[in-house]
Amino acid sequence: MFDPDHTLRDTKQTETNTIPVISVRHLNLWYGDKQALKDVSFDVRPREILALIGPSGCGKTTALKCLNRMHDDTRGARITGQIMMDGVDINGRGIDPPIHRRRFGWVAQKPNPFVGSVYGNTAYGARIRGIVQGKTAMDAHVENCLRRAELWNEVKDILHTKSGTDLSGGQQQRLCIARALSTEPDVLLMDEPTGSIDPIATAHVEDLMLDLARDHTVIVITHSMMQARRIADRVAYFHLGELLEVGPTEQIFKAAKTSQTQQFIAGRTG
Ligand SMILES: Nc1ncnc2c1ncn2[C@@H]1O[C@H](COP(=O)(O)OP(=O)(O)OP(=O)(O)O)[C@@H](O)[C@H]1O
Ligand SMILES: [Mg+2]
Repeated sequence: MFDPDHTLRDTKQTETNTIPVISVRHLNLWYGDKQALKDVSFDVRPREILALIGPSGCGKTTALKCLNRMHDDTRGARITGQIMMDGVDINGRGIDPPIHRRRFGWVAQKPNPFVGSVYGNTAYGARIRGIVQGKTAMDAHVENCLRRAELWNEVKDILHTKSGTDLSGGQQQRLCIARALSTEPDVLLMDEPTGSIDPIATAHVEDLMLDLARDHTVIVITHSMMQARRIADRVAYFHLGELLEVGPTEQIFKAAKTSQTQQFIAGRTG
């Protein structure tokens, strides 16, 4: 059985002895009768990029959704185990799910901006959550989010005149990242964020993720082994609902402990 505490000793130098932002222990999830996660345990460290990899249907998205309690709305989903965030059980009685979710930004595979201006898309999260008051402050907030998403220069003259849906695919994805940043999250959850954009746009988003990880924790699902290797500090390999191993990226790519991980990375499964 995979020992989550063992990996704490494998940390990259800069993060040695840091307290995890999130600790997942013995997590099981069933959709009705079907068990999609089996005894999954792992830690997420502050400001790391953790890549979740594994064959289609192995539970990556399911695991990601557990972290921000997105399964609260999934019919028939049942969860056991424990997820601690900053020392607090996220499924405990004292937790208000909407307030918990504010700590996360979610970026989906397919860019999904609203039909509405670039400004409106970016301001949305801050506006509905009352994070920013007044036009001047909101203008500055929108500019800041778009700058962080490396989109500002491309959209600064069309903030109010173009809809988010009028942008190119890569621009739309960066707009969705700006929208995710609008609520000032600590943790970004990205489910194949470059899965539907072209290679140049992908390179742009990868650079952006590396930049964001300077002050955010990023958990990203990817089907690209090259991407995982380029950007992730650590990699977690899921297989048929189990987390088979998690470790520093180079260790997973050069010396994975399980044959399933080795075969997947070599492109022989998945
Ligand atoms: N809402 C749901 N209801 C029932 N079963 C589900 C639901 N969502 C996912 N599943 C099932 O749970 C398993 C894990 O799905 P999940 O979406 O987490 O896989 P994944 O690793 O993200 O796959 P992919 O790489 O294709 O996105 C699959 O067998 C899937 O069919
Ligand atoms: Mg998925």
